[in-house]
Formats: sequence, structure tokens, C-alpha cells
Amino acid sequence: MDARLQLRVQRYGWDRAAPHYEQAWNQALAPATAAVLAAAALRPGEHVLDVACGSGVLTRAAWSSVAAGGGKVVGTDLSEQMLAQASEQSPQCRFVRADGQHLEDGLAGEDFDVVLCGLGLMYMPDPERALVSMVGRLRPGGRLIVSVWGERRACAWADLFPIVDARVHSEVCPMFFRLGGGDALAQALRGAGLSAVATARIPTTADYADAQAACDAAFVAGPVALAYSRFDETTRSAVHTEYLVSIEPWRVAAGYSLPGEFVIGSARLD
Ligand SMILES: C[S@@+](CC[C@H](N)C(=O)[O-])C[C@H]1O[C@@H](n2cnc3c(N)ncnc32)[C@H](O)[C@@H]1O
Repeated sequence: MDARLQLRVQRYGWDRAAPHYEQAWNQALAPATAAVLAAAALRPGEHVLDVACGSGVLTRAAWSSVAAGGGKVVGTDLSEQMLAQASEQSPQCRFVRADGQHLEDGLAGEDFDVVLCGLGLMYMPDPERALVSMVGRLRPGGRLIVSVWGERRACAWADLFPIVDARVHSEVCPMFFRLGGGDALAQALRGAGLSAVATARIPTTADYADAQAACDAAFVAGPVALAYSRFDETTRSAVHTEYLVSIEPWRVAAGYSLPGEFVIGSARLD
């Protein structure tokens, strides 16, 4: 997919997803959020940049860790609606609309002790470029902690993408699982010039009370929201049916408990 088109699909898709995102996804994403914060080991007074901050789940947790010593937290994202939610909940933090691949555009001359990027890299057309951009905002000795979704076969909701892609002109997230496979994330962190690289795989489940909640999380509250918003009722019904068939093995009573996997990567700039 053309990189500029992918950025537009992400920007306006997440604008649509923003009002629904936390309610649909916080439970499933909580293990990744906790693992990123544990790896970051933030200290009072540190300056933190949260890239692809979304509604600010990591941003506000980071603020509570660094504020006491006069710390500072800046959140960046492509989506204005995500940033609006984040800044409403964390008025003490600063928010800047910026592409994670070109942080120099919004944050020239600023550097940070810690850069976080929670579940954002998979949506960027060039994640290696994005890692270099993040490293460019680190002070010497600074830490970078990122999370991505893991192996495709470990994520029960993964058929969502081919189901939507079959009905649009180009793939919505062409590289989604690339950094989650094998030791791809560790290699990418080393390739960005970082040392002390460590990665860990962390399991999760996305629990939904019923089919409606599972479909809302998949289609309304996530990365395919823009494509889905343009589907007519017949197409919406067809993608719901296909998706529910794909997750049927994980049905629990009236609901679903979908396994998933994250990879958490941490590294240091010498
Ligand atoms: C799954 S959300 C993660 C939000 C948050 N970090 C969290 O852990 O809840 C993905 C976010 O990545 C953002 N995003 C996608 N592509 C981006 C890009 N190129 N630059 C910056 N943010 C991007 C989206 O707008 C969305 O808010």
C-alpha cells in the first residue's frame, strides 16, 4: 500500500475508533501496558515521550511515575481524536500530533530519558524508520520500550484483516504481524543502533460478553474502523458473520475468550 494512503487510513480510522477504543480494548491490552511500564522502570523527574499514545493509557501512567520529581511527559499520535481524549484525561501532559516515523517534525530539538511506543509500530508503513526516529529523540543512556502484537498464529482475531481486505482495494495493515514473528523486534531494535536489547513474549486474552461486543471491538474500535465505516449494511453483516466463524473455536458460553500474544522490546542508547 502507498505509505501516504496507509497514514490516512490510520489517522482517520483511529479518529473513528477513539470513542470506543478503551472500553473495547483496555482489558486485552492491560498485560502489554503493564509489561511496558515494568520494563521502563520510570523514575521521578524523568522526561518521557509516548509515541502513538492513542487515548493516553501509557501517557497517564508514565505521568504518575515521573511527576513527583518535576518530570515531563509528551504524547504524540496521528489521530486528532485520540489526542483530544488523551489531553482531556491528562492535562498535565503535552500532546503533539506527529507521525511516529518523523518525530523531528513535531519535536525538533527535544530529547527524552525514555521513549515508549505501545502497540503503535504495526500501523506504521516503515517501522524501522520509526525506530530510528524514536532513537533520534533519546538522550545518551536513554531507554526505548516498545510493544507489538506477537505471532499471527497466536492471535485468534487475526482473520479480521483478510476478511476486511477482501472488500477494499488495498490491505489495511500490510505489515501488521511482521515485527511480532521470531526475533524480528530484537533485530529491528539493534538495527536502530540500540544496545542491551531484550524481548519477551506475553500472552493475553480478549474477553467479550457476546458476539456484538466481539464485532464492535474488531470493526468499530480498532484499525479497520475507516474501511468498516464505508461498508453498507449487507457488507457489515457479511464481515460479522465471517469474523464470528473465524473466532468460533474460542467461544465460551454466549461470549468469546480470544487468545493473543504481545512482544515487548526494551533497549538502551549508549
Ligand atoms: C492500538 S492504538 C495504541 C494506543 C496506545 N499506545 C495504547 O497502548 O493504548 C494505536 C495508535 O497508533 C496510532 N498510529 C498509527 N499510525 C501512526 C503513526 N504513523 N504515527 C503515530 N501514531 C500512529 C493510532 O492513531 C492509534 O492511536
